[in-house]
Amino acid sequence: MPQTRPTFYVTTPIYYVNDRPHIGHVYSTTLADILARYHRLRGDDVFFLTGTDEHAAKVVDSAAQRGMTPQQWADTNAAVFEETFRKLGIANDDFIRTSQDRHKQKVLAYIEQLRQSGDVYEGEYEGWYDASQEEYVPENKAKDNDFKSPITGRPLVRKTEKNFFFALSRYQDRLLELLNSRPDFVQPDSRRNEVLGRLREGLHDVPISRTGTGGWGIQMPGSTDQTIYVWIDALFNYLSTVDTPDRQRFWPAEVHLIAKDILWFHAVIWPAMLMALGRDVPRHVYSHSFWISEGQKMSKSLGNFIDLEKIDSYVAEFSLDALRWFLATQGPLGSTDSDFAHDKFVEVYNVDLANTLGNCASRVTNMIARYFDGVLPAPVAGREDNEARTLRQAATGMCDKVDDLFGRLAVGGACHAVLDVVKAIDTFIEQTQPFRLAKDPEKKDRLATILYYCAESLRIASLGLAPVMPQKVAQLWAALGVSYDPAHGKLKQWCQWGGLQPGTKITKGDALFPRKG
Ligand code: MSP
Repeated sequence: MPQTRPTFYVTTPIYYVNDRPHIGHVYSTTLADILARYHRLRGDDVFFLTGTDEHAAKVVDSAAQRGMTPQQWADTNAAVFEETFRKLGIANDDFIRTSQDRHKQKVLAYIEQLRQSGDVYEGEYEGWYDASQEEYVPENKAKDNDFKSPITGRPLVRKTEKNFFFALSRYQDRLLELLNSRPDFVQPDSRRNEVLGRLREGLHDVPISRTGTGGWGIQMPGSTDQTIYVWIDALFNYLSTVDTPDRQRFWPAEVHLIAKDILWFHAVIWPAMLMALGRDVPRHVYSHSFWISEGQKMSKSLGNFIDLEKIDSYVAEFSLDALRWFLATQGPLGSTDSDFAHDKFVEVYNVDLANTLGNCASRVTNMIARYFDGVLPAPVAGREDNEARTLRQAATGMCDKVDDLFGRLAVGGACHAVLDVVKAIDTFIEQTQPFRLAKDPEKKDRLATILYYCAESLRIASLGLAPVMPQKVAQLWAALGVSYDPAHGKLKQWCQWGGLQPGTKITKGDALFPRKG
């Protein structure tokens, strides 16, 4: 019997197709990409999904302004997201668009099932309606804003409409039970506490259909003039994409990566809908915080978005992998926002990449080129002193550490655990001074052992870096004369000490990360 590999299904939010991609979208998607790549490297059976959320009312307006149909406009913009992610090296397994038939058919079936079970029912909704935004404003928010639109300041109107509702209130106890019995269901902890607090206040049923969308959206079964509310339609994407015979094994998802803005939908409404459908809930919902830009919230009015042009300029100047490293190590994974500041970027680049990783790689490969004609020497058996042992242990201990950290989605921590191995190589070089030993022919054996230890530790570190910096690591592998297929990895085995064969041709190659002023 072939052994079944663990599955790993990771998702990003599906992004509003009306928007242009910016650093926020790129961040969530890059994080998911790093996790997906890590799990492929580990040998898991991975499915990584991203996509676009297309049925918002705004799409109809934007399309009309351009003399296009909503579908044409959505096609144009979805292509921008796909192209952007391709350019940024995102290796998603599928790209779901909610206007695709494969999605719409599934959503209709889910809603039908929920109608049968009574979890979706017809009722009347009355509330404060913001005509300028085409949305209802919750009672308390309406009050706080003096019954004016929180966005445009225009008066809110009392409006009643026939709607279909989802019986969210039925699931309050089960949701509380879920969050209490699985403390890592919603992460980080601060977000979990937020959700628990609101859950304890009680749940109301939620309207899940809308009128007046001009037919753009998925027609609500049992109605001629209503479409399924765009959020409900969108949440189903996570399930609809894998709800096929060949992909069923991926459900439940391991983790939905999202940000704090959409926590309630993912931590409460979505699991309740899944419970109503009799499906498993995802294993984790991870809600990160926001990037701000040079100390300020990114906003249209300030025009300070880290947009595609800006992202491209960082990639051009520092490389794509440097951007990925910055996002991975400095990003807002916890409960506070992170600042995308230029000076910070340059500093992180120079400290971590140019001076640490890049410098170490060129030192090691240069010394082997110089002292051993670019042929990796064999370590002399039985010559492992304390310093060498410390380095070997740092390298061989990395794999478990990184596995634990990635397993807990501590992406920055995992990056630093790998960088620690690189730093251990530097320390070892300082301690053993191979450049001095090289002057004494009698020390050739010791020099050989030292350089083998350096190169072998660097090889192991490079494996840990591969999910974050796939291109630079491929360059490093070429220099070290090794090759791996990280999409079908055997990380544990590859991390065993001794993988690098003496006699291998080592080349010095170009600097991985040239220093920047
Ligand atoms: N379409 C909905 C999501 C539906 S999921 C079933 C939506 N789309 S969105 O285009 O507005 O994307 C929101 C997501 O983009 C956030 O949850 C986050 O993942 C990412 N980000 C948007 N701005 C961000 C920052 N400033 N910083 C970090 N990530 C942010 O909501």
